[in-house]
Amino acid sequence: MKRCERHEMDKELCKPGVHPDRSLDITRRIFLHKTLLTGTMVGAAAYGFFPLLNTIDIAGAATGENFKFAWISDTHLYPRELNERFVEKTIRAISEVKAMDPPADFLIFGGDLAQLGDPVELKLGAELLKDLDIKQVFIPGEHDWYLDMGDLWEKQFGTSPWKFDHKGVRFIGLNTIGQAPDYWSAKKMTPKERMGHMATLDGSVAGPWAGLGHEQLKWLSDALSDWPKDKPVIIFSHNPLYEYYPPWNFWVRDWREVHEIVKPYKNITNIHGHTHQILYNEIGAMRSIGMLATAWPWPYAPEGVPHLTKPMIRVDPGDHFDGLGWSKFTVPAGAMAENEYVMWRKTKDLFAEAAVDSGAGDNVNQELHPRTADKIWPY
Ligand SMILES: [Fe+2]
Ligand SMILES: [Fe+2]
Repeated sequence: MKRCERHEMDKELCKPGVHPDRSLDITRRIFLHKTLLTGTMVGAAAYGFFPLLNTIDIAGAATGENFKFAWISDTHLYPRELNERFVEKTIRAISEVKAMDPPADFLIFGGDLAQLGDPVELKLGAELLKDLDIKQVFIPGEHDWYLDMGDLWEKQFGTSPWKFDHKGVRFIGLNTIGQAPDYWSAKKMTPKERMGHMATLDGSVAGPWAGLGHEQLKWLSDALSDWPKDKPVIIFSHNPLYEYYPPWNFWVRDWREVHEIVKPYKNITNIHGHTHQILYNEIGAMRSIGMLATAWPWPYAPEGVPHLTKPMIRVDPGDHFDGLGWSKFTVPAGAMAENEYVMWRKTKDLFAEAAVDSGAGDNVNQELHPRTADKIWPY
C-alpha cells in the first residue's frame, strides 16, 4: 500500500480518541518478536501460551487423584447430504477424544450439536457420539432447541440443569438458552422461522435471549449450598456467564446474579461454548474459559474482548480446520482444572503471548467493562 493511501486510511480509521481494544492490537510480527526476545518456547512456557493457554497454578497436584475429561461443542451438524464437512470435523473430534491416553472419565457436550434443530441433525449427532464409550453429559445450545423448544433434545440427551460430583469436584450443567422471551407468538412465526432467527448471530428479533431465569438461579444457589466453599466447582454453560458481547448473546443477561451466587466459592470455573473462540476472563473468584467450536470460528467481538484474551490468529481461511478443535481438561486433586485447547491447524506459532492467569480469586484481573449491555438494553 502506498504511503498516501495508508495515511488516508489511518485518518478514517483512527479518529481522535478512538483506539483499538488493547487485546486486539497484537500482530503476528509482534508475537514473533516477543518470542525471539523471550527465547522461543522457553519464553513461551514462561508466559503460558501454546498450547496450554489456561494453565493454572497446580502446586500440590502431586497428591491425590488426577483425572481428565473432554469437551466438544458447536458441531452445528446439518443433514449429511447438505454438508459433510461438519460431520467430518465432529468425527475427528470424537476419534481424538477416544484416543486420549489415559482416557477421559467423561465427555461434556456443550451445545449446538445441530444447526437448525432438525431431528435428522440431532439423531445424526447422537449416532456419531455412540462411537465413544465413556460417560457423556449434555447441555443444549440455541441451535438444538428452538425448532421444537427442546422437546427432542431433552428426550435424546436429558434435561438440564443437572449436577454430579466426581472425584472431589462438583460439576454443574446449566441451560442458558431456553429462556428467550416469546417474540414469535405475536408475529405468528412458524417453528422454522423461530429457529431461523435463533440461528443468526446478530439477529435483533430475539433480543438478549441468553439467561438462566429466576428458577434456575435458585436451583444453582441450592446446588452449591451443601458444597464446601474451598472445594472445586466446574460449571458448564453454552453461553458465557459474564458480559462479553450481548448483541451476539455472548453473555447471560442475569450474569450479575450468577456472580452473587458464586461469590463465596474460592475455586470456581465456568467452561462455555457458543463463542467459537479462545477466551479467558476472571470476575471475582470465578474464571471463565471459552471453548473452540468444531464447525467454524466466530470473529472476536468488536468491543468488550477481555484484556486477558489474546485472539487467535487465523493464518489460513482456506483450511477449513483452521481455528477449530476441542478441549482436554486435567483436574489435579484439590487444584484448578487445566485446559488444553486441541486446535487443528498446520502451524504452531499462532498465539500472541498471554501471561499466565492469576489463578482467580485475587481480584487482579477484574473484567467488568465496558458495560455494552447497559448502553443497549437498560434494565
Ligand atoms: Fe455455536
Ligand atoms: Fe450457540
